[in-house]
This record gives sequence, C-alpha cells and structure tokens, in this order.
Amino acid sequence: MGKKVTINGTQFTVEGDRTILDVCRESGIRVPTLCHDERLEPYGGCRLCLVEVKGIPRPLASCTTPVQDGMEIITESETLTRLRKMSLSLILSNHPNDCMCCEEAGACALQELAYEYDVDGRRFAGEVWDLPVREDNPFITYEPNKCILCARCTRICQEVVMADTIELTGRGFNTMPDTAYRGPRTLENCEFCGQCVSTCPTGALTDRKGRGKGRAPRMKKVKTTCSYCGTGCNFFLNVKDGRVVKVTSDYDAPVNRGNLCIKGRYGYDFIHSDERIKTPLIKKDGKFVEATWDEALGLVANRFTELIQKYGPDKVGGFSSSRCTNEENYLLAKWVRCAIGSNNVDNCARV
Ligand code: FES
Repeated sequence: MGKKVTINGTQFTVEGDRTILDVCRESGIRVPTLCHDERLEPYGGCRLCLVEVKGIPRPLASCTTPVQDGMEIITESETLTRLRKMSLSLILSNHPNDCMCCEEAGACALQELAYEYDVDGRRFAGEVWDLPVREDNPFITYEPNKCILCARCTRICQEVVMADTIELTGRGFNTMPDTAYRGPRTLENCEFCGQCVSTCPTGALTDRKGRGKGRAPRMKKVKTTCSYCGTGCNFFLNVKDGRVVKVTSDYDAPVNRGNLCIKGRYGYDFIHSDERIKTPLIKKDGKFVEATWDEALGLVANRFTELIQKYGPDKVGGFSSSRCTNEENYLLAKWVRCAIGSNNVDNCARV
C-alpha cells in the first residue's frame, strides 16, 4: 500500500522510500535547490528546498525528509520565500557577484535563484574571500571565491568517483574544498574526470579547456554517445561556430546519469585535429594516396567478391568493436550475414 501525501492541495500516492523532494520532482512540482544532486546522498546544507508540513512547527528540508503517510506539504508560501531569500542573501554575502565575466553566467544555479528571488549580496555585505584563481592543472579551473560550500564537488568525488581527491579543508570562514594540504591536483591525486565540475552549481569549478570559448546559452548542444569504450555513456557536445568547445553532462542518460571519465569529458581534441584522416586512402605502389569514397568502396567490394569466389563465404568473417554503438555492431553483423553470406561474426567484448 502506497503512502498518501498531499502537496499543494493535490493528493499523490507514493511507493517505496522517497524524500519529499523526490516526490515533488516526480510530480512536476518545482522546489529550488542548490546543494542537491540526484547522483548524491541528500545533504541538507543550503536550506533552499525548505517546505512546510502541516502539524510540524518548523519548515523542513525536503531533500532530507522522507515522506510519511498523511503528510500535507506546502512548497510555496510567504514564509518559505522569506527563508529562501535569507539563505540566498547569506550565500551571496560572500560571493564575488562578477557575473559579467564569470564563465558560468547563464548556466549558474545561484545566479538563476538570485534573479528569481530578487536577492543580491548587499544585505549582509562584509568580509569576503579574495583568493587567487587556481589553474594548477590542465583540465579544471578553481575559483575558490565563488564556492558556496555546498560540498557537491567533495561528495561526488567521494560517493561516486571514490577518489577522495578533494575534501572540505580548513575551519570556519577559511573552509574550502581542496586537496590534502591544498596542493595542486596531479595525476597522482586526481582522476581528472571533471565530475566535480559537472556538479558545481556556480562558477567555482569550470572546465579549463572550454573557458572563454562561449556562453552556455549560446552553445548548440548535440547529444552523442562516447566512442572510447563499450559502456555507451551519453553526453552533450557543446558546439560553437562549428567547433566542439566543451563536453557537458547528460543527467538523463540511462547508462551514466551525467557521470563521465576523463576520456569522455576531456578527450575531444582529436575532433578538430589536423592529423585526422578525413578522406579514404588507397595503397598504390606501396604508398597511401587519397581516394574518393566511390573508389574506396568499389575497391573493397571487388576484393571481397574475388575472395568469396575463390575461397567461399565461410572464409570471410567480421569483427566489430565495443567502441561502436549497438546500431553499428548490428549493421556489421547484418552485412556479414546478408551481403557476404557468412555467420562468422564476433565482437571484442564477447567474453
Ligand atoms: Fe535541500 Fe540544499 S537542496 S538543503
């Protein structure tokens, strides 16, 4: 028997163990969040997701509160707006607010919420961080002044990547996510998967290779499948003026839910490499020379025909790669079976 809960006057039946935030999102009811990432355990740090529950005298963080049978939940009220404004004002009091030149402008969750709740950093203006920008590795730029201490970066590094590269270091005002002893990231202590970048809700952690190459809303996002291994992770190629300038996560991807490794996230330079082979090559007199597709395909077809006539179709087989998509592997199998007439089909991932 599911639990019956009412959200903003509408009744829902909830199966299994769900938080209030889970149920709201699954029901299409928006609740603002900053420290929440569906890939991570609930944290309850930012207090943006507060909701009111009838009979409970204080608002509750919806991301950490399990739904209970009979709950009557309110997600929008004057009190909640006031509390969310307060939280945002406190977060922004120690924030550079340099959105004009921030790499993340247009894709920043904090900027969006500040606009929505009409909050700036002046209410509690006081001491602010003035720390240098860290570019001590080839992939990730770290601007500690923009960190809001939501701990999404450190949690994803621990809970998902299990690399423990970064942790909340220091105490009080000096707390910040960093490596042990605040040293640079290197291949010895970091996988450079960019998971921390993918979850950062502000411009504190950004992809170094894509910096200055275009605002997020101006990028054309092309969904694709990673070709580095057979896992089949999805992501978005961010394309500007016909060039791939960044890779961003596809959080709805069923295989990887926005998670990527270093190759998927940062290994895209080959796309525009001058050394890339763009036309077919045919060996003539011991040397490869450029050819048209018609020439190349004609040559391959003729050679296969000769071989099949001489040795029979059983002497021909097709090996496909786990780097290919399922559709490509299927096409190869179909071609070998239907065009060649052989059942010798295999794949390097078949073990
Ligand atoms: Fe619930 Fe941050 S999203 S406290």
